[in-house]
This record gives sequence, C-alpha cells and structure tokens, in this order.
Amino acid sequence: MGTDASRTLRAGEVVLLRRTEGDSFLVSLSPDPVLVPGIGVFDLAPAIGKPEGWPLSMGSRTYRVLRPSLRDLVARMRRRAQIITPKDAQHLLYLTGVGPSSRVVEAGSGSGGLTLFLAWAVGPSGHVVSYDRRPEHQAVARENLAAAGLLPRVEFKEADVAVHGFEETDVDAVFLDVPEPWTVLEAAWTSLHPGGYLALYVPTYNQLERGVRALRERGFQEVSALELLERGLHVGEGGTRPEFEVLGHTGFLASARKIPPAPGGPGEGTP
Ligand SMILES: C[S@@+](CC[C@H](N)C(=O)[O-])C[C@H]1O[C@@H](n2cnc3c(N)ncnc32)[C@H](O)[C@@H]1O
Repeated sequence: MGTDASRTLRAGEVVLLRRTEGDSFLVSLSPDPVLVPGIGVFDLAPAIGKPEGWPLSMGSRTYRVLRPSLRDLVARMRRRAQIITPKDAQHLLYLTGVGPSSRVVEAGSGSGGLTLFLAWAVGPSGHVVSYDRRPEHQAVARENLAAAGLLPRVEFKEADVAVHGFEETDVDAVFLDVPEPWTVLEAAWTSLHPGGYLALYVPTYNQLERGVRALRERGFQEVSALELLERGLHVGEGGTRPEFEVLGHTGFLASARKIPPAPGGPGEGTP
C-alpha cells in the first residue's frame, strides 16, 4: 500500500518525538532546528512530508515522529489547579453530546484539563470559550493548549462568571467546574440554546446536593448525577489482578438539559 499524502507529517503541526514512553517530547515540527529540552538541538526537517512513525536519530538514540493522541497530550500537561481526570472529562462529553463543530463554554479554565478534551472533541470547526477569574491559572491552561497545538480552537476570557456571566449565547453546552456552580446557573441558562446541556463537576456531596437542588429550582430538565470509579488492572501471565493503588475519589458529575416551557402554556420546563 502507498502512503496517503493527507496522512503525511506537515510542517508546523505538533508531534510527539518518542523513543520510549518515558523518553518522549511534544514539539512543533519546524523546518528549522529546534531546541528540545532534555535532548538538545534537533533537526526535525527530514520528517516533514514523511509518514507518521518516521525515525529521526540524535546521536545513538532514535526517536519516532508520531501524532500525539489525546492521552499523550493529557499526560504531558502542566498542572496548577486540580484537573478533571480523563475518566470524568470523557464522560462529560458523553453526557452533553459535545462533538465535531460544537460551540461550548466552560468555567473555570484551571490548568486546562477539561479544555483539552473539549478542544479535541469539537474539532477544527468547533469553538471553546474558557473563563477563569485567576489569570495565573488561565496562563497555565493557555500554555497547555498551545503545547497541544489546540489553541486555535479555544478563546480564553478572564472574568468572574458569578458576577459577569457569559458573553456567548446559543451555545450547545456549558461546563462548570467552580466551587459555587449554583451562582452561575442563571448565566448558563441564558447562554444555552433550547435543548443544550449543562454539566457540573464538584468534589463534595454538599456541593452536589446544593448544585442539583438549584438546577431543579431553575427548571432544568433531565437532571442526573453520578460518580465514576476506575480500577487499573495489572496483567501478567497467570497473575492478573487489580492494581493495588486505586484513585479513591475525584469528583461528582451532574448534568441537565435546558428545555424551556412551551410557548403559550405551562410545560415541563416551568420553574
Ligand atoms: C478546579 S479548577 C478547574 C480545573 C479545570 N476544569 C481543569 O480540568 O483543569 C477551578 C477554577 O475555577 C476558577 N473559578 C472559581 N470560581 C470562579 C468564578 N466565579 N469565575 C471564574 N472562574 C472561577 C478558579 O480560579 C480555578 O482556576
């Protein structure tokens, strides 16, 4: 089989230089030599126009040039604020139906953990607006999205959403990972188009109870909540068993849908 030209590596895209899983780096595939921290100055140009997996040598080491997976990107994120873990972020996409071309809004940006999943899911024709009131957190999120090559899909805005709400209207989904999501529900309702989804992510039962009560009071429909537990498995011939270390608790997910009352009469959506 020949090489599909649309799959060949392009100048300027973000690639993973990988020798082993632990010895790998995200870099922009530049035609000019680049300084790769931990490796040195590397001439990546020979990989441009070549198929994914192209080998490049640096001294005695050979690195393969790969397109990073979402997993590669998350693993290499810088973390400042606590990120939404992949098991939870992935499920939030499922709950809200976010996919190619979606227009979504989130608060707060934090380290950009969820932002990365959203930007990945909406694709090049979608749009993510990410709010945070703390510029030092948002700077980390921006850096992480830039390193992943996904910054063009994301607009960062610095604002306290409990005070100023969101500037966007007609959005497909709103995500709230802030300590007091009930202060932002009215703003989320205003931003969503009818049929759009709202998701909350909170670390304690108290926040979940208060958040869900507020969702019901505001007239959101299809309100549900859950927690996901993930247990890694150690797989060995004749000795397969659960890993000893389990991530005990991350956060609770709640989701709901904006279905306003039908015009001209009381409906299910009446608060
Ligand atoms: C736990 S972090 C978000 C983590 C992020 N979802 C991730 O996956 O990396 C919470 C963020 O919300 C921001 N925040 C809290 N209340 C806010 C508000 N009212 N308006 C805007 N940002 C807020 C904080 O500054 C913090 O950066």
